[in-house]
Amino acid sequence: MIYLDNAATSFPKPQQVYDEVLNCMKNYAANPGRSSHQMAIQAEMKIMETRDRICKLFNISNPLRIVFTKNATEGLNIAIKGLLKKGDHVISTVIEHNSVLRPLSYEVSHGVEFTLLGVDNIGYINIETLRKEIKKNTKAIIINHASNVIGTVQDINKIGQIAKEEGIIFIVDASQSAGYIPIDVVKDNIDILVFPGHKGLLGPQGTGALYIKEGINLKEYGQGGTGSQSDSMSQPKILPDRFESGTLNTPGIAGLCQGIKFIENIGIENINKHKKMLIEHLIYELSKLQYIKIYGGKSYENRASVVSINVEGLDSSEVGYKLNEKGIAVRTGYHCAPLIHGILGTNHIGTVRISPGYFNTIEDIDKLIFALKNIK
Ligand code: ALA
Repeated sequence: MIYLDNAATSFPKPQQVYDEVLNCMKNYAANPGRSSHQMAIQAEMKIMETRDRICKLFNISNPLRIVFTKNATEGLNIAIKGLLKKGDHVISTVIEHNSVLRPLSYEVSHGVEFTLLGVDNIGYINIETLRKEIKKNTKAIIINHASNVIGTVQDINKIGQIAKEEGIIFIVDASQSAGYIPIDVVKDNIDILVFPGHKGLLGPQGTGALYIKEGINLKEYGQGGTGSQSDSMSQPKILPDRFESGTLNTPGIAGLCQGIKFIENIGIENINKHKKMLIEHLIYELSKLQYIKIYGGKSYENRASVVSINVEGLDSSEVGYKLNEKGIAVRTGYHCAPLIHGILGTNHIGTVRISPGYFNTIEDIDKLIFALKNIK
């Protein structure tokens, strides 16, 4: 199978990710942060090592501000539901994933106001419009760093600057950028950063995290045992315990740790360079085919490793089905981002999404192009 669906979840993972998950399961998957025996301490040390590596990757100074979640969706729910209250206004965009749009819609039905900024046909918000939409009660700006449909990368540095000037909390959904594009929470003025562990960070599914800057207090999201303040029936206020009730996914986090280590060793710039090469080649080859419509920008600049297309005369799901028959994995449809399709003109057809990963090659792209020609 030629796997070109890395925007959904990365595959394969580096060998050391598989090895460490198994090693943890077999040798030290005790309950971290609970008991004080050797195995439990080893499990907790691995969790701490992972927090430290995440800090290094995003320039976060306090590892205790990293909360492990099961995916980015859970992190976004913790952030959105924990922050907003009746009467607050929040600014987001039409290019968001349902992991933002659905919790926001829920909040709107409970008295929160929202403004969804439009984007142009290659996916950019207008920074001046963003400024104009800020109101006295604007509590947060929530931005999809890189679109999971057309790969557009927003200028989070500029948006973060505006949020800082206006005293608004800046939340970044880095689902499609973490591990691919450098992010610096200090330089980019990010107050809350949410990311999955199983995409660009190359960890197993069931892993994700969010960073919450010091001084930001979120309502508790769930309650339960944390291994801390166990003589009290109240949920601890301290982080990360406040949001990490119940046993963590230690084997998953151990695998994630190795995924991040792999990125450190290769270097995020080199990962980016490889993807740039693949995407440039892909767009170049696709552009030669008259019957292919490419959505979003035509260059790699400011584009994550995501390209959406349609083949003239064919439904996106039909193309996906036929590619699968030829041993090529892509995603088709709306990609859980309902509003962007109004702008792309793909409301009733969706798109065929091609998302190469670090382990793909130019040959994989050539085989995809050959298959698309055949299908047509
Ligand atoms: N959010 C993931 C995607 O875009 C699942 O496919």
